[in-house]
Amino acid sequence: MNVFGVDIGGSGIKGAPVDLERGEIAQERFKVLTPHPATPDAVADCVRQVVEHFGRPSGPVGATFPGVVVGGTTRTAANVDKGWIGQDAAALIGGRIGAPVTVLNDADAAGLAEMTFGAGRGRTGTVIVLTFGTGIGSAVFTGGRLVPNTELGHLELQGHDAERRASTRAKESEDLSWSRWAKRVGRYLAHVEMLFSPELFVIGGGVSRKAEKFLPLIEGVSAEIVPAQLENNAGIVGAAMAAAAAGSGPVAAT
Ligand code: BGC
Repeated sequence: MNVFGVDIGGSGIKGAPVDLERGEIAQERFKVLTPHPATPDAVADCVRQVVEHFGRPSGPVGATFPGVVVGGTTRTAANVDKGWIGQDAAALIGGRIGAPVTVLNDADAAGLAEMTFGAGRGRTGTVIVLTFGTGIGSAVFTGGRLVPNTELGHLELQGHDAERRASTRAKESEDLSWSRWAKRVGRYLAHVEMLFSPELFVIGGGVSRKAEKFLPLIEGVSAEIVPAQLENNAGIVGAAMAAAAAGSGPVAAT
């Protein structure tokens, strides 16, 4: 079955039909640049452009959002326009594209995809998927089941919001070497490990493509640490999975 997935990010809004048997996009994805300011209205228009590139949606559509999403309403907006706070995103986007829409947190979507088709496949203990980018996103699983909206990127680390110190954006804006950044990521992972004792960390976000540059430098963490496998398409795949699962009970990664 193919279901459409859209990944709403700080720099781009990209989507594609997803083959849910294989956990892969079924056609080359289409991307538009995120408008600035990324108001709900402007973003909803972009989602429509992305969806319409592939024709009229024939079924439910899934969309990610880089903030807390409860029952289709976006509750936080750390790195996007504050107009999203309290927005019924599912109704707004659904109305714009003329199809039912399921909205979920971007890291939760990436996590669902990794647990089913990628690095977390078959793992039943506590698994934490972390996405490093503009912010740090988190998805926590146990028994293959997601605890949504965990927001571990905003843990306090050495007196700072952790994502301000250890995201890829922090690496870029402070021009940190791989080893200095890996030290921060290591400290962050050790803190998360102290709180949750996961058996596995899956490291996602664009930086997962360069895992060999920093994963070997991470110290002081006992859990296994592996790079994500779906790379850039994890959000799109996870969004489609969530849309397919909507209505059939809580979302599980199996
Ligand atoms: C947001 C999270 C999001 C993460 C990655 C954080 O700033 O609070 O909801 O998952 O960035 O986009």
